[in-house]
Amino acid sequence: MKLNIAVLSGDGIGPEVTDQAIKVLKAIALEFDHAFLFKEALVGAVAIDAHNNPLPDATLDLCKSSDAILFGAIGDPKYDNNPSALVRPEQGLLKLRKELGLFANIRPVRAYDTLLDKSPLKAEIIADTDISIYRELTGGIYFGEKKLSDDGNTASDLCEYSRYEIERIAHLAFKAAQTRRHKVTLVDKANVLETSRLWRKVVTELKSEYPDVALDFLFVDNAAMQMILNPRQFDVILTENLFGDVISDEASVIGGSIGLLASASVGDKYALFEPIHGSYPQATGKGIANPIASILSAAMLLEHFELHDEAEMIRTGVEKSLKLNITTPDLNSIYDNVTTSKVGDFIADFISNPNDTSINFSNIHLGQSTII
Ligand code: IPM
Ligand code: MG
Repeated sequence: MKLNIAVLSGDGIGPEVTDQAIKVLKAIALEFDHAFLFKEALVGAVAIDAHNNPLPDATLDLCKSSDAILFGAIGDPKYDNNPSALVRPEQGLLKLRKELGLFANIRPVRAYDTLLDKSPLKAEIIADTDISIYRELTGGIYFGEKKLSDDGNTASDLCEYSRYEIERIAHLAFKAAQTRRHKVTLVDKANVLETSRLWRKVVTELKSEYPDVALDFLFVDNAAMQMILNPRQFDVILTENLFGDVISDEASVIGGSIGLLASASVGDKYALFEPIHGSYPQATGKGIANPIASILSAAMLLEHFELHDEAEMIRTGVEKSLKLNITTPDLNSIYDNVTTSKVGDFIADFISNPNDTSINFSNIHLGQSTII
């Protein structure tokens, strides 16, 4: 298969983790005889620095003419600490989501057996967790009208949803549940918010089209608690934009590191793949950022094009790296010299030598990129 992939690595650790995803995709292309062509463009703070625009036209054009987008991270402390900044890196990502109609953000959350002790939550609580979060991504309070009074003392953000916006993502969530454990949990705040009551009504109506899927409801405050009390109860979580943002960061604690959580943002025409973590500016250039979320996002990209064996190969490589402690310091208490790039090398090497059953601690030379 031939794929044109736009690479928007963005800010902070974005470029270093995205490099590892590209490395792994190149290994897949070689092994499975595909042609992946990568073209880079600026987004976020780096684009503001270069063009005073977090999403330059050239970047948007490249995305529109590509088959898929690999996204890194966005954000810079110099904007976070300046509430009066008119241009912000995050606007680049939000505009991209809107312009490309990426209305569904899918965030898988798993507890890996080998990492159960890395989570601050008890192993018996998180074991076997397997959740797929469907977060609405182009509506709600993120995109409603924003106001600030002339005296600067009153502000508001409008939260608006239409039936159509709810229906299109709800269909995807129900369909996903049909391939999983047949359960959708709608997370909302229907005891307070009108938009949430509309979500409940519309989703309940749609449910009749999916008789084999059970639907239940949780208020978001309760859902936040249930997520760490009993995460195994969840199969597919369906929720609106802001609740999904918050719940998915919380859910990352289950996996042991936010550096593991990948995501796909899809619409009718375009698809973008990105780790859920941010730009982690304190770690930039230190080689300590975990590239696995980015690498697993690349696996989701392949899955999107029905390249199932290829995606599975990446996931197996990731599991092997976790098992052998070829991981960055957020997960590693054994080796202190495993860098971002070495994790990428290991997984790419695994793809090139999948049948090398001799992979074990002693024959992995951590100082080099190859398995000897
Ligand atoms: C995410 C991020 C973004 C969001 C930011 C960077 C705008 O937190 O993808 O979860 O809030 O959607
Ligand atoms: Mg977020």
